[in-house]
Amino acid sequence: MSRTDTASLAWYESPSPGTGCLPPRAWYAESDARRLSLNGRWAFRLSPRADGEDTSFVQPDFDASDWATVAVPGHWVLQGAGGAPAYTNVVYPFPVDPPRVPSENPTGDHLRLFELPGDWPGGGGSVLRFDGVESAARVWLNGVELGDFKGSRLPHEFAVGELLRPGANVLAVRVHAWSSGSYLEDQDQWWLPGIFRDVTLLHRPAGAPGDFFVHAGYDHRTGSGTLRVECEGAEGRVLVPGLGLDIAAGETVTLPVEPWTAETPRLYEGELVTPGERVPLRIGFRTVAVADGVLRVNGRRLLFRGVNRHEFHPETGRTVDAETMRRDLVLMKRHNVNSVRTSHYPPHPAFLDLCDELGLWVIDECDLETHGFAEADWRNNPVDDPRWTPALLDRAARMVERDKNHPSVIVWSLGNECGTGAGLGAMARWMRQRDPDRPLHYEGDPSCADIDLYSRMYASHAEVELIGRRAEEPLEDPELDARRRAMPFVLCEYAHAMGNGPGGLSEYQRLFERYERCQGGFVWEWIDHGLAHPELGFAYGGDFGEELHDGNFVCDGLLFPDRTPSPGLAEYKKVVEPVRIAPGSAPGAFTVTNTYDFTDLDHLEFRWSQEADGVLVASGTLAVPPLAPGASAEVAADAPPGDGLWTLRAVLAEATDWAGRGHLVAWGQSEAGTPAAPRPATGARPRVSGSTVALGPGTFDAATGVLLRIGDIPVEGLRLDVWRAPTDNDNGAAWQPDERYGRLWREWGLHRMRHRLDAVEAGADALTVRTRVAPAGRDVGLRTVYRWTADGDRLGLTVSVEPEGDWRVPLPRLGVRFALPSAYDAVRWFGGGPGEAYPDTRAAAMLGRWARGVDELQTPYVRPQENGARAGVRWVELADAGGGGLRAEGGAPFSFTARRWTGEELDAAEHLTDLVAGDRVQVGLDHAVQGIGSGSCGPGVLPAYRLDTAPAEFSFVFSARGR
Ligand code: GAL
Repeated sequence: MSRTDTASLAWYESPSPGTGCLPPRAWYAESDARRLSLNGRWAFRLSPRADGEDTSFVQPDFDASDWATVAVPGHWVLQGAGGAPAYTNVVYPFPVDPPRVPSENPTGDHLRLFELPGDWPGGGGSVLRFDGVESAARVWLNGVELGDFKGSRLPHEFAVGELLRPGANVLAVRVHAWSSGSYLEDQDQWWLPGIFRDVTLLHRPAGAPGDFFVHAGYDHRTGSGTLRVECEGAEGRVLVPGLGLDIAAGETVTLPVEPWTAETPRLYEGELVTPGERVPLRIGFRTVAVADGVLRVNGRRLLFRGVNRHEFHPETGRTVDAETMRRDLVLMKRHNVNSVRTSHYPPHPAFLDLCDELGLWVIDECDLETHGFAEADWRNNPVDDPRWTPALLDRAARMVERDKNHPSVIVWSLGNECGTGAGLGAMARWMRQRDPDRPLHYEGDPSCADIDLYSRMYASHAEVELIGRRAEEPLEDPELDARRRAMPFVLCEYAHAMGNGPGGLSEYQRLFERYERCQGGFVWEWIDHGLAHPELGFAYGGDFGEELHDGNFVCDGLLFPDRTPSPGLAEYKKVVEPVRIAPGSAPGAFTVTNTYDFTDLDHLEFRWSQEADGVLVASGTLAVPPLAPGASAEVAADAPPGDGLWTLRAVLAEATDWAGRGHLVAWGQSEAGTPAAPRPATGARPRVSGSTVALGPGTFDAATGVLLRIGDIPVEGLRLDVWRAPTDNDNGAAWQPDERYGRLWREWGLHRMRHRLDAVEAGADALTVRTRVAPAGRDVGLRTVYRWTADGDRLGLTVSVEPEGDWRVPLPRLGVRFALPSAYDAVRWFGGGPGEAYPDTRAAAMLGRWARGVDELQTPYVRPQENGARAGVRWVELADAGGGGLRAEGGAPFSFTARRWTGEELDAAEHLTDLVAGDRVQVGLDHAVQGIGSGSCGPGVLPAYRLDTAPAEFSFVFSARGR
């Protein structure tokens, strides 16, 4: 800013938040005051530049009949109205020269003609409200300028009473893609200009409140709630029939109530009655406090089992309809998620109403991120330049005033990734004086000088453990250090859910449970931001020809773009389950622990089952004694103890607003007796005849020792395989050079291993094939011996692998691959299921008998990568439509994959549409696989889940199953 005199700047480049807007106030969905939605089709004209002086379109007689139209709310770049979306994570897609923006500044002129209803009330005033416009807007009504504003994800209102006319009115809005506000909105997401939230005309009757603030605390020692509703600009009464209350606004009353928590979202319906308007209230009594180094609500420590939620829809971008908002929350509740950080801006206001209603803890984050200044060592960072402070304070006020009456909002967040600066302190001071009842959050300042919670993103398990013990590295300033060390700790982002993963969730959860200070975290992030694309399925960065972009880093959610849950969400659900069910002291017994923060287990029913090789033997329900949060008890099925697989499920006893009766909340298993290992397949003798060798049901090529058939099933290319199409988490982030295994594997040539044949030996009871498997250009290798044996109709394979040379990388996987004709696509297995599982993502894999088609085994990661493995498998069968097929039993539990393309084809694909089904089913049977981790942004695979290169031996027994 030093180079420019800000006074001479165009309004959209001035760091000022805007002119002409009314002060912010609380949002509420409806009241008895009239309102008129101006959503709908608007006339639209796009200009490539912002500096055109021509504003003739704002005149009421302007003829826009040749303009295009767009839907409002919406982003014009997603409506074929010109321009395209662009994705960058940290870098600004324009030269960093604050507060100036490029001359090439796409500008959308919007026109909306509306009829004022004939019975629109005459008295009082009217306001025009914009709930969200990216990135800056200038507004005219009937040719008269109302003002301008920035702050894309924040509400702005103008008084328009005087300007409204009976009959036809013309609203004109000029929107610029880039403005000084863009410097404050560098969140990791698509840049999507437009009027993307509702536009509404609201009548403000004489005697209506200017604003109101509901204070509803709860004293857990007495069980009483204290209510005071401040009402500005009008006399008011507060009615809460459920509590028999009729008090004056401003009056404080204390009385017995049921508290609001995310687990028990008890809302009391009420009304603020003023001479001009009756405003509905939904009151939730709760008290948030940091006490003894712990964040508490209603006196109890709470554990965030959270997600970071961006507003996103694959077709409409950040325009998210009410049904989609509800769907997000229902999905969260069904997956045991109890909290949301509204990364990185306040959501559509209706979303918070739903959080109040369904029960979610919310960290409401201000629309503020200046991350791109990190590229310039934070020079000219707006949060450290007083000329921007009014804009920062404006943003703080617009969030707090809009959202202050939601019980679900328990923490305010100043913003995300802005570095440090006095502007943040100013925001914090303002928020504290306006709302002393909510703690403040901000992750980007390690000193935590302005805030109440120590927050970090992507800290490793080891560091979280240190923090849990309050033994982290000290800050230089002892006073700040002591202050921070006494704070509660949250991971505002962790477990980067990009592509396959995240791995390591269970280990984080154990730390959150062990250390009182560690109050959980928020997985990054809720949904992949893949945009629907006619050729590519879902598009990511670069797919719109952006000059700068960050590829598929925008697809890192627990939901696919179409909101199908990914395996990561199933895993998270299991890891954060609010009831822990562990094997008890005897078969059929379990230890049940209540891990809710507030409720007992009365709302759950406990159903047990006993199975043998996946077949139900017995089942029933059992009673669990009343357990307070944190308490445990051993319970047992009312059945004779016996061997087999025992499962105990906790399900909803009654339907709720978010799931039906019987919905699975938590489960645990225990196995009694040793599962039978396959009988050895030995005794048969290899018989050489011509160019083939027959051994039991197997037929081999005599020269190469390669398996050709089992029974009459052709088996192609069975051999050792160590490659997998690297996952995003394998590839890792640039800032973790040592653990970018996906890249290391490629450097070492693991994707192009050569198989040298050393010997084929037909012995008395085995066919032995000796090989060496190694990449070109390296002196490392894997001596690999296949020892085939058979009895009458079963074929045994033992593979031994002896590494040679100085292996300094782990292996992606270790197993065998082969191909079957494409008809063998009906898969049944006994093992972990039904979903994908890897060594550090297998908490949700339930042991049992499962069946899926090959196509259903695939996980559609937006950028194709390794996926679909099933873990802990004892046997798998691949059958054709007639039911005949191949069975493989493991000498020890194994993993399998089955796909219609090879790992190499999967690796080469950039989008799902690149994957073309071949005429084979490619099968992988793996003795071991490397874990997943969350190295695409956070820590990599924990040592226990690394597949270090070491001698190994594993075996399978194959048989052909008749039709
Ligand atoms: C964080 C950031 C998020 C997102 C994430 C990586 O640094 O706060 O917005 O970029 O990393 O996906």
